[in-house]
Amino acid sequence: MSINRGQFSSKFGFILAAAGSAVGLGNLAAFPVGAAKNGGAAFLLLYLVFIAFICYPIMMAEMAIGRHTCRNPIGALNKLSNNNPVWNIFGKIAVLTPFMIATFYLVLTVWVLGYFIETSRGNLNTLANSESFGNFIASPSLFVYTVIVVTIMYAIVNGGVKEGIEKAAKILMPMLAFMLLALVVFVLTLENAMSGVVFYLVPDFSKLNGAVVSGALSQAFFSLSLGMGVLITYGSYLQKNADIVGSARLVAISDTSIAFFSGLLILPAIFSFNPNVSPDELSTSSITLIFKFLPQVFMSMESTIGYLGASMVAAIFFLAVFFAAITSIVSLLEVPVAHLVDDKCVSRKKSLVSVLIFMLILGLLALASFGMITFLSQLPGYGGAESKSLFEYIYDMFYATILPFVGFGICIFTAYRWRQHNFSKELSQGNDRYQGSFLEKYINFSIGTFIPAFILFVFITTVLSVYFNIDLIAILFA
Ligand code: PHE
Repeated sequence: MSINRGQFSSKFGFILAAAGSAVGLGNLAAFPVGAAKNGGAAFLLLYLVFIAFICYPIMMAEMAIGRHTCRNPIGALNKLSNNNPVWNIFGKIAVLTPFMIATFYLVLTVWVLGYFIETSRGNLNTLANSESFGNFIASPSLFVYTVIVVTIMYAIVNGGVKEGIEKAAKILMPMLAFMLLALVVFVLTLENAMSGVVFYLVPDFSKLNGAVVSGALSQAFFSLSLGMGVLITYGSYLQKNADIVGSARLVAISDTSIAFFSGLLILPAIFSFNPNVSPDELSTSSITLIFKFLPQVFMSMESTIGYLGASMVAAIFFLAVFFAAITSIVSLLEVPVAHLVDDKCVSRKKSLVSVLIFMLILGLLALASFGMITFLSQLPGYGGAESKSLFEYIYDMFYATILPFVGFGICIFTAYRWRQHNFSKELSQGNDRYQGSFLEKYINFSIGTFIPAFILFVFITTVLSVYFNIDLIAILFA
């Protein structure tokens, strides 16, 4: 069907693009908040265990399915299951999910761009004002920022796999890493920064409980871009002789390192702002932290480096976050585009324009659900909440619920439909040492047993808590 699907230029190009997808708001905003509130290094250790023992095998499964079939998730699952209708529906969910997640991710990316532009224009003091976030998210300038973000997304994805996605990652990822490290070095020189480091690196195991465990797994899943068909799609552009085992490992390591360094930036910055800060009061979510709290932290640097210096630090931070977000959102966009190109024989440009238009419409509605349009901001609530916004609907349904569900399905599909020996064969291609290794034994055992079982458990607890306000973990361990 698809004659010219495009391919990454090398294994390295693939790793950078996949790392570009993985490193995003999850690392730069959500991870530091998770670590701050849930026991610092204790959370980090738990997160590392999940990455290594649960997420890494799923990551390889997604990449292997993609490379083996050279298809997007729907085409891939159809091909490997002989068009089985159940797996076809599952494939459809794996294409719809990134599309929907992209709509809420778009809102956040637009805000980040807005914060970058505002801080660069010298408006850090306005952003540091406590009411400013409320005004910002309802301001008409957001529509202009949306147009800018969508145009950048169009330009990158329209360039194709090699000249668009891979090139963008090759330019933006090193810049992001450099800016992040420079900020870490600078922040560590600030007064009281060390108390933040101590807080971050000394584990407090008493904070770990069932909710933290399931939160850490969802966080690890989202951060590695799993359960969204992204890695199936990127894997489908990978050369046949490339090493999936090694590439996936590097992607997981880079993603985790960036998350680690973000913590090393944000926590010391907060402690230097207020050495007596209580982490429980820090923020309720990562969104509140980066948009409401961090501008105040940057503003407090005025006394040491002046207003210009503080504004520069803030602008560099938001630019780094923006780069991370852009390389992630284009990977979400690529999944439905690849589906239309592969399965519906639509040209890349046409697919891209149609997907982007839908994404833009939904994204704008989600953007407006932060108070601009009352109806969208106050949809009927569930799970104990009186009302929820459209943004929260999309978030709860696709991020909290469907994501682990797709992850569960990928494990079952790989183990029982595609079968372990085919999976192993695909992983051996490009890696001579895989066959017979301990890793192979571990993966073949876990991918059809405790990994899906654990994910299913997290899925059930999440559904009960989000939609029915029932805390299963508390009931089980009471
Ligand atoms: N991994 C990205 C992050 O950490 C988000 C993302 C998820 C991107 C899934 C693509 C696919 O922010």
